[in-house]
Amino acid sequence: MQKDSPDQTKGPSLLALLLVGVFALCLITGGLSLVNKHAPKAIASKDRHVIRTVAASPLKGRTAPVDPELLKIGETTYNSLCAACHQEGGTGKAGFAPGIRNHDFLALASNDYLRNTIRAGRPGTAMVAWSALSEKELAGVIAYLRIGNEGYVSDLSQDPDREIAGAAGKGQVTFETYCASCHGPNAEGYAAGGSGPGIGLAGFLSVASDDFIMQTVKHGRAGTAMLPFVGAKGLANLTEGDVGDVIAYLRTLPGKPKIAEVKTDVSPDPEAGKMHFDANCMACHQPGGIGKPGFAPSIRNSDFLALASDDFIRKTVKIGRLGTAMLPRPDLSDKVMGDIIAYLRSAPTIHTANIKVDQSKKVAGDSKQGHDKFQAYCMSCHGDKGTGYVSGGAGPAIGLAGFLSVASDDFIYQTVKLGRVGTAMKSFIGAKGLANLNDQDVYDIISYLRTLN
Ligand code: HEC
Ligand code: HEC
Ligand code: HEC
Ligand code: HEC
Repeated sequence: MQKDSPDQTKGPSLLALLLVGVFALCLITGGLSLVNKHAPKAIASKDRHVIRTVAASPLKGRTAPVDPELLKIGETTYNSLCAACHQEGGTGKAGFAPGIRNHDFLALASNDYLRNTIRAGRPGTAMVAWSALSEKELAGVIAYLRIGNEGYVSDLSQDPDREIAGAAGKGQVTFETYCASCHGPNAEGYAAGGSGPGIGLAGFLSVASDDFIMQTVKHGRAGTAMLPFVGAKGLANLTEGDVGDVIAYLRTLPGKPKIAEVKTDVSPDPEAGKMHFDANCMACHQPGGIGKPGFAPSIRNSDFLALASDDFIRKTVKIGRLGTAMLPRPDLSDKVMGDIIAYLRSAPTIHTANIKVDQSKKVAGDSKQGHDKFQAYCMSCHGDKGTGYVSGGAGPAIGLAGFLSVASDDFIYQTVKLGRVGTAMKSFIGAKGLANLNDQDVYDIISYLRTLN
C-alpha cells in the first residue's frame, strides 16, 4: 500500500472481502462467459487510431460523484478480466504487471490515457486489447480504479501537449546506465525479463505524453520499484535534460522489432520460456501450467505433451481458439514460442506416454452414430456441440474450429485412449476405460466432430 493513502487502507480492506466473494462467484459462474464475451481481439493498428478519437468518457471529472451501479459494473469487470494480472485491488506484481490503482500513476494518467490503454492494449506484452468491453464496462473499470483515489490531492500533474527535446544518442547511454536493469535492454520490459513495463514499446509510447514520462521519472511511483531519478534526492541525480534525452531515445524505439531479434540458431531456453509463460499464459493456464478445471487446460501435462507436437502448440498459440478465452497471439516471435515450448516440456514427467501421433492418419466413422455417442459420453464435459468451457463444460472446446484445425484425427483418438493424467479427461477406450468404448466408437465421434466446423 502507498504510504500516502489514508483512505485506501480502510476502504479496500472492506472492499477486498466483497471482492473476493464477487471474484470467486464470477469465476465459478458468470465470470467465464464474461471472459469469453469480452475476449480481446487481436490488435490492428487501424483500431488504435480509431480508439484515440473515441468520445470522452462519461466520467470526465475526477471529482464527479460516481454512480454506484457503474462502480459495481466496474468492480465485476475488473475482478473477472483484470485481477488475474493486475492482482486483487490493482496492486500489480513486480516483473509481471504494473499496479494500476497507484496514486502517483492515477495522478498522471488521464481517463483518456486509461481508455486508450485498455482499448488498444500494449502489443507485445501480456496487456491485450480489451476492445470488446462495452462503454459502460470501460467507464466502470476506470471509476473503480479511481475509487479510494478521488479524495487524494496530488501535486503531480502533467501537460499532455508539452514537447520535450533531447538527444537520442545520449539518452540511450543514460537509459542503458539507469533504466535498462529494470525496463530491459531495449525497453521491452517484462517480455525481456525486466521488472518494469515495456516503456519502449509502441503501446505505451502511443498513449504516454513526453511529460507523463518526465513526471514519472522525476517523482517515481510510491510503493513500487520505480523510484524518483531526478535531482539530489533522486536515485541517480539526473537532470531534466538527461530525462529529455532518454525520452528522445525512447521515441526512436517503436520502429524497432517489438521483441528482440530472433537468431534461429539459438537453442530454446526453458528459463526464458518460463518468464514468457508467466507474462503471457499464466493468468489462464495457472502457475506451472497446471490448468484450472472449467477454465483452461493443463498444458504442462505429460500426457498432453506426449501427444502435442511443437507444431501443434505453435499453431494453437498463433491462431488461438476462436470462441474461447484462448486468444490468438501471432505477435509472439518464433524464439519466444520456442522458449515457451521448452519450458512446457521441462515439466516434471508424471509418467511417460510412449505414443506417437500419426498426423496423416484419417479415420473413417459414422458421424450420425458419433453424434449419439458424443452426447452420451462426452457432452457432459465438452458441452453441446463441443463448445467447451463457454457452455459451462469442464473441458475444452473440441468442437470448435480452432482445435479441429490443429488436432489430427489421431491426436483426438490417442487423447481419448490415453486420457490426461491428473485431469477429468480419463481414458475411455477398452475394459479399463471409463466407458469401455472401442476404436470404432471413437472414430464415429471423430467423424461427428469433423462435421461441426
Ligand atoms: C529498480 C527498477 C527500475 C529502474 C532502475 C527504473 N524503473 Fe521505471 N519502472 C519500474 C517499475 C517496477 C515500474 C512500474 C511501477 C508500477 O507498478 O506502477 C516502472 C514504471 C516506469 C514508467 C511508467 C510506465 C507505465 O507503463 O506507465 C516510466 C515512464 C518509467 N518507469 C521510466 C523509467 C526510466 C526513464 C528509468 C531510468 C531513468 C527507469 N524507469 C528506471 C522499475 C524501474
Ligand atoms: C494477461 C495479463 C493482463 C490482464 C488480464 C490485464 N492486463 Fe493490463 N497490463 C498488463 C501488463 C503486463 C501491462 C504492462 C505492459 C507494458 O509493459 O507496458 C499492463 C498495463 C496496463 C495499464 C497501463 C499501466 C501503466 O502503468 O501505464 C492499464 C491502465 C491496464 N493494464 C489496465 C487493465 C485493465 C483495465 C484490464 C482488464 C480489463 C487489464 N489491464 C487486464 C497485463 C494484463
Ligand atoms: C468427465 C469430464 C470429461 C468427459 C466425460 C470427457 N472429457 Fe475430454 N477432456 C476433459 C478435460 C477436463 C480435458 C482437458 C484436460 C486438460 O486439462 O488438459 C479434456 C480434453 C479432451 C481432449 C483434448 C482437447 C485439447 O484441447 O487438446 C479431447 C480430444 C477430448 N477431451 C475428447 C473427449 C471425448 C471424445 C470424450 C467422449 C468420449 C471426452 N473427451 C469425454 C473432460 C472430459
Ligand atoms: C485468457 C486466457 C488464456 C491465455 C492468456 C492463454 N490461454 Fe491457452 N488456452 C486457454 C483456453 C480457455 C484454452 C482451451 C480452449 C478450448 O476450449 O479449446 C487454451 C488452450 C491452449 C492450448 C491447447 C491445449 C490443449 O489441451 O489442446 C495450448 C497449447 C495453449 N492454450 C497455450 C497457451 C500459451 C503458450 C499461452 C501463452 C502464450 C496461452 N495459452 C495463453 C486460455 C488462455
